[in-house]
Amino acid sequence: MTSTIEHRRGRLMADLDRARQRSLALTSVVDDVDLVRQHSPLMSPLVWDLAHIGNQEELWLLRRIAGRPGMLPDGIDDLYDAFRHPRRDRPSLPLLDPSDSRGYLHEVRGRVGDLLATLDLEAPDPLTRDGFVFAMIAQHEQQHVETMLATHQLRSGPPVLSTPPAPSSGGVRSAGEVFVPGGTFEMGTDLDPWALDNERPAHRVFVPGFHLDTTPVTNSAYSEFVAAGGYTDPRWWAPAGWDHVQEAELTAPAFWVREGDQWLVRRFGEMLPLAGDEPVQHVCWYEADAYARWRGRRLPTEAEWEKAARHDPVTGRSLRYPWGDDEPTAAHANLSGRHLGPAAVGAYPEGVSPHGVHQLIGDVWEWTSSDFAGYPGFRVFPYREYSEVFFGDRYKVLRGGSWAVDPVASRGTFRNWDLPIRRQIFAGLRTARDVERV
Ligand code: AVJ
Ligand code: FE
Repeated sequence: MTSTIEHRRGRLMADLDRARQRSLALTSVVDDVDLVRQHSPLMSPLVWDLAHIGNQEELWLLRRIAGRPGMLPDGIDDLYDAFRHPRRDRPSLPLLDPSDSRGYLHEVRGRVGDLLATLDLEAPDPLTRDGFVFAMIAQHEQQHVETMLATHQLRSGPPVLSTPPAPSSGGVRSAGEVFVPGGTFEMGTDLDPWALDNERPAHRVFVPGFHLDTTPVTNSAYSEFVAAGGYTDPRWWAPAGWDHVQEAELTAPAFWVREGDQWLVRRFGEMLPLAGDEPVQHVCWYEADAYARWRGRRLPTEAEWEKAARHDPVTGRSLRYPWGDDEPTAAHANLSGRHLGPAAVGAYPEGVSPHGVHQLIGDVWEWTSSDFAGYPGFRVFPYREYSEVFFGDRYKVLRGGSWAVDPVASRGTFRNWDLPIRRQIFAGLRTARDVERV
């Protein structure tokens, strides 16, 4: 038992470290002017994300758990409360400068290291039991790493980030689909110690039989919709989506650039030919919904997505990941920002789910048709502003996680959400259809 807890302590240290390396890397490749500038009204200046990461860590681990007094002066502390200042206003706030922000992060982390080394992770407090609140903070930092990557993608100027290209060998026909038979499965989790409140509790859900795309929708498949005039035909769009596509003058996914008779994509400052066999990304929910309708199909519900990802028809159990309960490796899924984009469809045969579905974890977030809501019996833990304030019909659920997601924030139960107009996130889709009635 003790060795399990000691193992978990080591894991948490490593998870926190890994998050910090990524935060510092993304904020060390641009100069201070760039860090305090706003690259899009949709995003915070990078220096805000940086100090906000430290502030959440200080609030939860040092003030709440260790009972220490605040480290920042009162007025400054509140600048990092996401609910007090909308993103577009953040550049004009009297924020800590880049050097003070890094110093703050460093000091907080030093004290957190001491705390984690000595705290009793078996005490009954649900916040600290099994290290939950440390894992929550590691997940929070990694989510902001993904947000900072979206900011980098929106930033103009020469490239400052580079990674080896993602695997390009496919081998699976992107047009294929699998059949998931009707039946009940267990959705959500009670057992995963680091699952967030919106993933709980586990509950049984009946899902009628349906067909689901074997892989995410590719650039090549999506470009057929663009070429067929999909963006100018109201038949394919939800009414609010049709208003939006006209008002925002959308003509293709974000960052697609037409050159002659070809599509290029701008990715982190580089112009690349559009890779036909990679999952499409940077589409909003309205575009995903319209594409599916044009194909005579629809987006999967969140329950359908999770059943396809987790249900093992042999044992009847729900797995932690499509491939089983083991932590993701580089052979299972395209995660961790190892590559700065999605891999070709079919590139991860070891990550396939028992129902035969590929790339459910990693590559791109996948839009579902579902609104973000609490599961039956949902309980806020530990704060309303993580999930509950977003429940309702304004936000759509995304599943699976993108290439930018770290394993600490990746599992078959993990839920993300965003407004249906958002497309700066690394989101794509796969489509579904009902069983034909006979
Ligand atoms: C779960 C990605 C929608 O970025 O707004 C970060 C995560 N919550 N800080 C967001 C989050 C608080 C959240 N998403
Ligand atoms: Fe945050």
